[in-house]
Amino acid sequence: MTQDELKALVGQAALQYVNPGEVVGVGTGSTVDKFIDALVTIKDSVPGAVSSSNRSTDRLRAHGIRVLDAGEVSKLAVYIDGADEIDGRGFMIKGGGAALTREKIVADLAERFVCIADESKLVQTLGAFPLPVEVIAMAVPQVIRRFEALGGQAQVRSGVITDNGHPIVDVRGLSITDPLGMETEVNQWPGVVTVGIFARHRARVCLLGTAAGVKTLNF
Ligand code: 5RP
Repeated sequence: MTQDELKALVGQAALQYVNPGEVVGVGTGSTVDKFIDALVTIKDSVPGAVSSSNRSTDRLRAHGIRVLDAGEVSKLAVYIDGADEIDGRGFMIKGGGAALTREKIVADLAERFVCIADESKLVQTLGAFPLPVEVIAMAVPQVIRRFEALGGQAQVRSGVITDNGHPIVDVRGLSITDPLGMETEVNQWPGVVTVGIFARHRARVCLLGTAAGVKTLNF
């Protein structure tokens, strides 16, 4: 199976976590695009979605699915999103699509984060994928220096400004053995809007697309 077919497989499998009559949280990315396409088939039982990006909002609306503002709900039963990396504890790196801040905001509303990913995303230790960090422009040089002091190589993602109007810094060369500790530390740095480590908002379930079908990991 191709990577695209594996993404479609887990996008479809995620429907089982969507409760009829309940608003669903929707992430961002090529895997989530497949989920949104699958969601159309049950859209009459879904009152709406809270979206984590302009990209997903556009796709949801194009499919006739109502999009609510995050402020219109106080909680969500489930948030469904992809990941750039996920480890055996449900900790993730996210933000490859530059939507990490809104993804964390919507994930925070949800009781359960269901990650959908093809098997290439499952890793022992986070960090081979460059860690995305959304940063207020004025703080970028200092944030880069701080990552360099930790042994990383950080650079601004060329040509990308987030839905919130900020640049993204990508950090290579980190081995993130303590995701919770690093998320907590980087969150303290002035000018950091969001670090793409999802440890506090880790996945509770991962639907992993494999050649043998969908494997469900519970954390
Ligand atoms: C976007 C994200 C995505 O979930 C992540 O990049 C995975 O994307 P894809 O499903 O296209 O591989 O965090 O900010």
